[in-house]
Amino acid sequence: MTARLETVVVVANELIAAGVYRLIIRAPRMADAAQPGQFVHLKVNNLTAPLLRRPISIADTNRGAGTIDLIYRIVGSGTAFLSGVPVGEQLDCLGPLGQGFTLQCERPLLVGGGMGLAPLVYLAKALCPKPITVLMGGRTKDELFWEDVFAPVCDQLQLTTDDGSTGTKGFTVDVLPELIKQGNFDTIFTCGPRPMMEQVAKIASQYGLACQVSLEEYMACGLGGCLACSCAGTDGRRRKVCTEGPVFQAREVFG
Ligand code: FES
Repeated sequence: MTARLETVVVVANELIAAGVYRLIIRAPRMADAAQPGQFVHLKVNNLTAPLLRRPISIADTNRGAGTIDLIYRIVGSGTAFLSGVPVGEQLDCLGPLGQGFTLQCERPLLVGGGMGLAPLVYLAKALCPKPITVLMGGRTKDELFWEDVFAPVCDQLQLTTDDGSTGTKGFTVDVLPELIKQGNFDTIFTCGPRPMMEQVAKIASQYGLACQVSLEEYMACGLGGCLACSCAGTDGRRRKVCTEGPVFQAREVFG
C-alpha cells in the first residue's frame, strides 16, 4: 500500500485520561487502507517546530464513517499543541505508514504497556472473533483507563500496576509465564517500553510461541529516506522502523 499525503479533518480531540487524548480524524482513504500496527505521520502546525511530524499509532478505524482514531499522550510541545487543535481544523497527514501485524494465529495473547496499548486496540478488533487475551501494565490505576477500551473486544483481561493500585502488583512480565501456562496461546503480540518487549520476546521464545513486536523509535521522514529511525537487527543489518516496521518478528530485532 502506497502512503499518501492527505489533508484530514479533526472530528474529535478529547481528553480521555490524565494527559491522554483521543483524536478522531476524517480520512476515508486512509481508514479504508489502514492495517493494525500501522501509523500516521501528522504534521503539527506548531510554530516552534513547524517542520516536524509526529508518528502516532492507529488505534482504530471506522470505514463506514471514513475516520481513524489516534490515542496520544502529551509528551512535548508538539503533542501539547495538538491537544488544543479544535474540531473542524485541517491537518496534514501522511499515511498509513509501515508494516503492521501479521494476523495469522488461532489463540492470540496481546501484551501492552503504557501507550503501547494503542495499536493493540485496533489489532484486537481485527482478530475478533478469535478468543483474545490482553495483559496490560501501567504504573498506576490511572494509566489503565485502557481496561474500558479493551473490555468490548477481548475475552480475558489481566492487569498489572507497579504500585498495586489495580490488578496484580508488579510488571506484565512477572505474570506472563503463568498466564502462558494457563492458556493455549500460539502467538504473542506486544507493544510498549522496549525493556518490557525484550522480556516478553524472551519468555515467548522459552515457551515456543511466535512473537511480534511493535517498536517505537524517533522518526523524521517516516518514509525510509533519512535513517533517523533505524535500529540494529539480529542479522547485523540496520532496520528502518518506519518502513520495515514498526512491527517485526521478535527474532528479527531482539537477540
Ligand atoms: Fe526517516 Fe525512518 S524516519 S528512515
